[in-house]
Amino acid sequence: MEDILIVKGGTPLYGSIRVSGAKNAGLVLMVAAILAEGETILDNMPRIRDVEVMTFILNELGVRTEWKDDNSLAIYSPPGRIKTKTSYELSRMLRASNLFLGALLGREKEAAISLPGGCDIGSRPMDLHLKGVQALGAEVEIEHGYIYACTKRPRGNNVYLDFPSVGATENIIMMAVKTPGNTVIENAAKEPEIVDLANFLNSMGAKIRGAGTDVIKIEGVSELKPVRYAIIPDRIEAGTFMVAGAISKGEVLVENVIPTHIYPVIAKLQEAGAVVKETESGILVKAGDKIRPVDIKTLPYPGFPTDMQSQMMAMLCLAEGTSVIVENVFENRFQIVDELKRMGADIKVEGHTAVVKGVKKLYGTKVRATDLRAGAALILAGLVAEGETVIEEAIHIFRGYENIAQKLNHLGAQITVK
Ligand code: EPZ
Repeated sequence: MEDILIVKGGTPLYGSIRVSGAKNAGLVLMVAAILAEGETILDNMPRIRDVEVMTFILNELGVRTEWKDDNSLAIYSPPGRIKTKTSYELSRMLRASNLFLGALLGREKEAAISLPGGCDIGSRPMDLHLKGVQALGAEVEIEHGYIYACTKRPRGNNVYLDFPSVGATENIIMMAVKTPGNTVIENAAKEPEIVDLANFLNSMGAKIRGAGTDVIKIEGVSELKPVRYAIIPDRIEAGTFMVAGAISKGEVLVENVIPTHIYPVIAKLQEAGAVVKETESGILVKAGDKIRPVDIKTLPYPGFPTDMQSQMMAMLCLAEGTSVIVENVFENRFQIVDELKRMGADIKVEGHTAVVKGVKKLYGTKVRATDLRAGAALILAGLVAEGETVIEEAIHIFRGYENIAQKLNHLGAQITVK
């Protein structure tokens, strides 16, 4: 299994690069497809490890999947009942497996979901998910590492989320669309992936209003029909490539991107001195003469995305001055700091705050990808470091980026996969 990336630093990137479909939209839409019986086709799907594992989970529940072409996935949701218990083995490989809670309750009125547990970036509890499905009539028990949920008389209801959790909002939507009555989610997550889920379900015959705002209203329906649907482009992949252009002192055109989805990143790159322009075919990023320090606070959408925090940190290691990064969404998302310090960075962490003092140079050495976004950020640091950066546990990166080495090499990078 390819698990090592070697990045030779020092080459500015030039040219255009195309963004793939969004991992975090593709995953939840694959799950939502079980809410209709028949063949759903999802277009613009990225060929990444997380999507592959999600097909395995669907298959184990009795839902067949087939790639129609490179990026079109067919999902055959059979008539009648499907299995309602996910396996621990597959679920622990993919946190998004917890999205079957709402979808199975919506379709089968019961679900047995392996508790995903924490991951490198935080404890990631599911209390808000459970509160949501219980409000719609589910009885929940947690036993032997599993959430057992079932409902005899599901009923629409009002749910207030203490925190605008993406996953909890998605689980409640997927249960509510086939639950009799009206459901209102207050303080809902507003991420573009939530809007994509609602658009997909509405095209199947659901009645969802207000997705993208903090109040979502859902009127339950008895039946949904399968459709063909193209998912949105990946705003985090787009942001990663925009930083690649800025950090490498090059000029990159990022294609197949929706600018409104990535405004906070555009604003921070401009603040750091890069020239960022929207064009007909995408977003053009031209590095500035120098990288200026900027302060970042991660927040739920439309705030600065936590999934771009590590990539910006890598760039700010080379700023002319000191930047302060506050991580407000996940309690343990500074694991990259030790790896960047191995490359010569000067970063101090105090709780949720990282103080990044810019240095003149980074040096290539052996580092480890601790999670998906930290791994991508190490590639960016490697692009400008002196010498070679050897990134181990690169599997984390392949979980969420389609052909990342090939795409960056097309712009002049020198990355090999081993
Ligand atoms: C989604 O995770 C994304 N994953 C994450 O992307 C992303 O970082 C996150 O949203 C925030 O934008 C997918 O869509 C598959 P949350 P999710 O529920 O749904 C706390 C990537 O790199 N919380 O919004 O798990 C939680 O612990 C990944 O692509 C509770 O306390 O995120 C966290 O601190 C990483 N109780 C915060 O809320 C709950 O019941 C945000 O979590 C649920 C969440």
